[in-house]
Amino acid sequence: MGDNEFVVVANRLPVDKVGDHYEVSPGGLVAALAPVLRAREGCWVGWPGNIGETLEPFEFGGISLVPVTLDQNDFERFYEGFSNSTLWPLYHDLIVQPEYNQEWWDSYVEVNRKFAEAAARAAADGATVWVQDYQLQLVPGMLKELRPDVTVGFFLHIPFPAPALFQQLPWRNEILEGLKGCDLIGFQRNTDEDNFRLLTQDIRTGTFPISIDASEIAVAPEEDVAKLRAAVGNPKHLLLGVDRMDYTKGILQRLLAIESLLEEGALDDVAFIQLATPSRERIEHYRTTRKDVEEAIGRINGRFGDVGRPIVHYIHRSVPKEKLGTFYAAADIMLVTPFKDGMNLVAKEYVAAHPNADGALVLSEFAGAAVELNQAYLCNPFDLESVKAAIVGATEPDAARMRHMHDWVMEHDVAAWAQSFLEEL
Ligand code: ADP
Ligand code: F6P
Repeated sequence: MGDNEFVVVANRLPVDKVGDHYEVSPGGLVAALAPVLRAREGCWVGWPGNIGETLEPFEFGGISLVPVTLDQNDFERFYEGFSNSTLWPLYHDLIVQPEYNQEWWDSYVEVNRKFAEAAARAAADGATVWVQDYQLQLVPGMLKELRPDVTVGFFLHIPFPAPALFQQLPWRNEILEGLKGCDLIGFQRNTDEDNFRLLTQDIRTGTFPISIDASEIAVAPEEDVAKLRAAVGNPKHLLLGVDRMDYTKGILQRLLAIESLLEEGALDDVAFIQLATPSRERIEHYRTTRKDVEEAIGRINGRFGDVGRPIVHYIHRSVPKEKLGTFYAAADIMLVTPFKDGMNLVAKEYVAAHPNADGALVLSEFAGAAVELNQAYLCNPFDLESVKAAIVGATEPDAARMRHMHDWVMEHDVAAWAQSFLEEL
């Protein structure tokens, strides 16, 4: 038994160990939860992002971290396999076909047990343990067996699919049993919660849309914004995309929409910056996605760009948070076009970066963020004409719509999200 009254358990720690230094880990879960843990005493149990290395608990950025080791087999079967080639596509409504593999499932059970045991060791008597996301759905049940004294919460950061899809999963009953160990499950949207409740009503559930630490999105200095705009040729319309390189994000679709608008002459004097963090790079569908995106960028620049004046500026790297603020502030139009997304924090970050209510957000109806940011230029990424129409609409932005969304995001930040979940728990 440990001495932590509050324990977060997530697949990844908020930092990855890269060589001998640490880098902020990718994804919305870490972006949202790191400020919550900094504000509350407690510890974070998770994987430090490298294979096979065992680390002692350590402090980083004001958070106490408890590393869990994943070996090569765990990485391939639990992480790349069951988490990201079975559950991820299944929970995102089969954008690609999920694979069902008994060895991956066995590894999922084994690794969930590793996380449950680490959490059981870290938690004080009667502690609150908050388990995160689809990689760890068996942890609540395992933990409750090891430590019946602790209160266990679970939050699903990604969508929960309709029963007809979930029922494809050969281990659907085991997943539901695992989740029954919690005292409360939180979902991003009512539809996720409704889908889950159609399967079982034995667990307390709630909808808690996650958010951002708005104070982390620094207001960018005007000279930095001017410099960035100048670097891309001071276009009339500067468009921006910021994503993990993931097939759920609809990056190719926004490129095709821009290409089609250029072809029709419906968009001119435009530059598009796409920042894409490398993600899950050994998985086939991720490779294909990157290849298709990069091919489209090359084609668009070849067709419509000029020497020293490409249309698409593409960075396949993670950009430091301080710099991200400048990109958001400089962009006239933010393109967030996922086929399916639990929330999409990028949409909220963009809105937070526009305190003067300039700029415009093009947002997929299939992102969780569309429930709250319904004043955005909404589009259906499965319908290219709809994406094109939203982009054209966003070229004449409406400050009242942006103001409304900005006020909402500033008021409903990640501290409020954590507070409401933990109070309910
Ligand atoms: P997901 O959790 O699926 O990755 P979100 O949009 O919810 O999607 O969260 C992504 C997070 O990662 C955001 O906080 C965003 O700022 C950050 N991010 C995405 N792409 C980049 C990038 N190229 N450089 C730096 N941060 C990025
Ligand atoms: O909820 C989104 C999420 O899948 C997190 O669970 C995850 O940590 C993040 O995106 C990044 O993905 P990965 O950890 O696979 O790099």
